[in-house]
Amino acid sequence: MPVVSTEIVAPDIYWVGAIDWSVRMLPGYYSDEGTSYNAYLLMDEDITLIDTVQAQFGFELLEKIKQITQLDVVKYIIINNAENDHSGALPFLMTQLKNATIVTNKICMDNIIHLYPSLKNYQFKIVNNNTQLKLNTHTIHFIPVPMLHWPSSMVCYCPETRLLFSNDVFGQHIACSERFLDQIVLKDHIIQLMREYSANLLGPFQVPLTIALQNLKQLKIDTILTGHGISWRGDNLITAINEYTQFSQNKQLKKKLTVLFQSMSGVVNTAAQIIMQTSSHQVQFCDLNITNLTKCALSAYNSEFLAIGSPNYYGQTTPLVESAIHYLRGLNLIKGRKVMLFGSFCWSDKAVAIMKEMVENAGGTVVSEISFKMGVNEITQSALINELKKFV
Ligand SMILES: [Fe+2]
Ligand SMILES: [Fe+2]
Repeated sequence: MPVVSTEIVAPDIYWVGAIDWSVRMLPGYYSDEGTSYNAYLLMDEDITLIDTVQAQFGFELLEKIKQITQLDVVKYIIINNAENDHSGALPFLMTQLKNATIVTNKICMDNIIHLYPSLKNYQFKIVNNNTQLKLNTHTIHFIPVPMLHWPSSMVCYCPETRLLFSNDVFGQHIACSERFLDQIVLKDHIIQLMREYSANLLGPFQVPLTIALQNLKQLKIDTILTGHGISWRGDNLITAINEYTQFSQNKQLKKKLTVLFQSMSGVVNTAAQIIMQTSSHQVQFCDLNITNLTKCALSAYNSEFLAIGSPNYYGQTTPLVESAIHYLRGLNLIKGRKVMLFGSFCWSDKAVAIMKEMVENAGGTVVSEISFKMGVNEITQSALINELKKFV
């Protein structure tokens, strides 16, 4: 049996989650550093588990609870989000926590019964933003945050301890032994992971994010306990809130150029190198032959400018360029950007026109188009450098 350890993260609150050190592929998301599924046990007269973990970690979660209390005294399990990384262990837990009631909102209940039909046989308590769950010394308030990032998502707040259990909001995908940013040496790395998470999960949801931030502003919060990765407390709270505020207002955009391309014979790669060396802005290189879409989205997240390049591939763009534009479009990471398109061809020059249509459909503004026949020569190189001046 693995060694399990619990951890007090705030008065009366134990972290009982699981660290997934080896996962690299989450739904649609390449996580280079694994993740954690954070769950918390709140000790009060009515003992309450807040969120669960992926199904395969259910036994580990149960062992952690056993180290703290008897299983039959757990009164509530709050489910803030139906998604399986937070609810996967619930069917197993309900067979073990004999006296627990599932506390969640109506949409979430419908979703989890859909995901796990056996749960319809258990007791639910449906909550909304007017509900308060009194546990004795602690009270739990429920705040819906629809589309952050599931329709059923909510966060919950304890006014007595000024604690927000934020589920997917304010999280990052990282497996590590630390729980709070103040325990981390490379703090900027966590901020960068938070941006990656925002870009790839919250990209299309700036409006719901704005509404959620307005609602959270009404609360006095000292600690945010996230559903993934590192949590926030003290002076670091403002860092997390500022990041989200900037993003909700599109103020994260910088004079930065993301050069995103796939090269087949090397011509588009040559053009990309010229762009990178000539641009007067900060440049980030996303060679699709070696860069995954999660990292491309992170780069586009704060780039005001995009340069997208593809050779003509049998009258189309390359498959990876097409899928990258498709991915970024879904995340709203082309919308509002100024875009340069560059391509190469031998006899049929179609790729740039196709990319133009895709980028414009995604809400980007094409400010420059250039394509190279056979290769980049001196004339086309100076033309390319000239085109780059349109990125101002
Ligand atoms: Fe999650
Ligand atoms: Fe999620």
